[in-house]
Amino acid sequence: MANRIAELIELIRHHDQLYHAHDDPQIPDTKYDQLKSELLELEAAHPGLVQLDSPTQTVGADPSTLFEPVEHQIPMMSLDNAFNRDELSAWADRARRRLAALRARKAAEEASGQRSLLSVEEEEGGGEDDGRTNPEASSAELGNLVCELKFDGLAVSLRYENGVLLQAATRGNGRVGEDITANILALEYEGKRSVPHRLSAGAPEILEVRGEVYMPLAAFDALNAQQEAEGKPRYANPRNTAAGSLRQKDPAITANRGLSMWCYSVGEIQGGPGLATHSTMLEYLESLGLPVNPENTTVDSLDAAWKFIEQCEAKRHDLPYEIDGAVIKIDRLDLQRQLGSTSRAPRWAIAYKLPPEEQTTRLRDIQVSVGSKGKATPFAVLEPVFVGGSTVAMATLHNEDQVRAKDVRPGDTVVVRKAGDVIPEVLGPVLSDRPAGLVEWKFPSVCPCPHQEPLVRENGDAAHYCRFERCPEQLRGWIEHFAARNAMDIEHLGEQRVRLFIKLGLIADVADLYRLDYDRIRELEGFGELSVANLAAAVEASKQQTLARLLVGLNIRHLGDTTSELLADAFGHLDRVMEASVEELAEVDGIGPIMAESVYEFFRSEANLEIVGKLRSAGLNFAQDTGGDEAAETLPQTLQGMTIVVTGGLEGYSRDGVGAAIKARGGKSPGSVSSKTTALVVGENPGASKLEKAETLEVPILDEAQFQRLVETGELP
Ligand code: IVH
Repeated sequence: MANRIAELIELIRHHDQLYHAHDDPQIPDTKYDQLKSELLELEAAHPGLVQLDSPTQTVGADPSTLFEPVEHQIPMMSLDNAFNRDELSAWADRARRRLAALRARKAAEEASGQRSLLSVEEEEGGGEDDGRTNPEASSAELGNLVCELKFDGLAVSLRYENGVLLQAATRGNGRVGEDITANILALEYEGKRSVPHRLSAGAPEILEVRGEVYMPLAAFDALNAQQEAEGKPRYANPRNTAAGSLRQKDPAITANRGLSMWCYSVGEIQGGPGLATHSTMLEYLESLGLPVNPENTTVDSLDAAWKFIEQCEAKRHDLPYEIDGAVIKIDRLDLQRQLGSTSRAPRWAIAYKLPPEEQTTRLRDIQVSVGSKGKATPFAVLEPVFVGGSTVAMATLHNEDQVRAKDVRPGDTVVVRKAGDVIPEVLGPVLSDRPAGLVEWKFPSVCPCPHQEPLVRENGDAAHYCRFERCPEQLRGWIEHFAARNAMDIEHLGEQRVRLFIKLGLIADVADLYRLDYDRIRELEGFGELSVANLAAAVEASKQQTLARLLVGLNIRHLGDTTSELLADAFGHLDRVMEASVEELAEVDGIGPIMAESVYEFFRSEANLEIVGKLRSAGLNFAQDTGGDEAAETLPQTLQGMTIVVTGGLEGYSRDGVGAAIKARGGKSPGSVSSKTTALVVGENPGASKLEKAETLEVPILDEAQFQRLVETGELP
């Protein structure tokens, strides 16, 4: 046991040093928190083995020798963590018990005129986490709670004397930090000073204000854009970049990194108004011109604090800076004083940690996928890991240069980051975990398809390409692109199915999707009657997509969603786009000469014209306005004069697709039920109000199969 404790202490110290002193953490916060929790548990079970300088009893890391040391007159503390609601409640219970015990002791002392010989811990009812309920516990109330965001940056202390900023220091080990005054004085964001050099009127004689220096996401993105433009590797995350930027020897470098600060507490204070609560203290700091976060909220119960935490989680990615949790603080300063601190953290505050967005996992392999335009993109095959709210098993590595810059090798332990809906990213390897003899990854020289044509990287291009026109990998990429949500939106056509259809020779180009041999497909393993019907319906519905979506699906080089929309609006019909000269195409606002040339050339290729011809004979809509175009009118007008409302999701249609399919057959599809409604079609998760209204007005209610029959026959069941 003592061995494991010693090992954990050494490991945690090593990572503390990397994080705090070198700004170069090599494991994500979760892994670090796990080590810390394990040590805490072992120490709780074996109190005799707790060392005074254990990382559970201390804060941060010793300062480096890069900057002059600064001794904090009032130590800069850390915070204890809660990871769930129970742990949050346990913190509040502990605080209540302690206040009750203190009060009981005071009463007893007053009664007997003697000091109690028991420690508060003993009177409280045992250890901090024993979970026992003390009958006194509920009698002590915590009063209001201040809820704050937990900013993911680095703690600093600013010392103002008579309103003038004289010294700024990092936290260091909590007692001694580093003098970073010159760097703090240089901070600017969006043309304004990030911290005032001089406070507004009313400043006390001495004020040490504490807070977090962080890098706003916009500043981080701008810095990375600049790195990319200069061909330099991207920075991994805003927190480490903020720390690295702040601890520069040259303040000029720090100055233009956009670092900002949120103030959340005070150290030494002499003079100024006597304040009774933390919330009024924050208001006071703000009145002095210091940056105080507008999200701070004062609540009157733990339930309300929990709501704040839930809101933090929900809006985590809408904030213009990163947070890693919330901090809940007891508002009354007298209660804060009574509760005091352990050697590393105050008892009157708790940090609630949000689920991690970075994790480590093993990089099983690096493979290459070939896209619709022949671009070969390397991607990481990962041991599946739960991070940022979902399981991640793959992540793009973009191109050869990115793999090299990150120096990730199959067999490495890597840090994976996934923030909310953002695409997962491999940040880099954990070098300390790299097995000996792991070889650098080399970009494959041939395409992964059976033809194994060479992958070439042309001068000045970051990407490799397969130039073989009939490459089945490219075809798969094109078909997936054609069927994608932003293009023809064909559901039930996943990657595996596309691969299979290509392999069986059922599709050789995108137009073949409209002449699929469903009898053959029905015989394939994994295709039931329903799934074939769904696929057929989805393919059918896609015929009515707009011209803009068709243009996206055609996969014309340089043309994206927005520019396809511009062309579709300007020309109205595919035939007009095809007939247009380069000059006419380039006349459209937003279409540049390279794009115009590319569109023109696309429609001069025999192979592409053949595909367009096949799409035309399959009856696809070539017009931008699907309401009354020539192509749509060629469909049987089975729904002529009918008004069909749809609620909930239908298996065979996308949300937009179903409306388009109704209109294409002469019907109307408004968003609400009225007495004029012919039928209400009900899918998955329907809206209750539409259903109720249809029932009241005795409008026929159809399921998807009945709707399908109506579309085909024009007759209501
Ligand atoms: S209060 C004595 N409030 O989180 C209380 N800390 O994990 C000191 N942090 O060392 C801290 N946001 O660097 C406080 N709203 C907030 C915070 C915050 C971020 C940091 C701070 C602290 C660390 C503990």
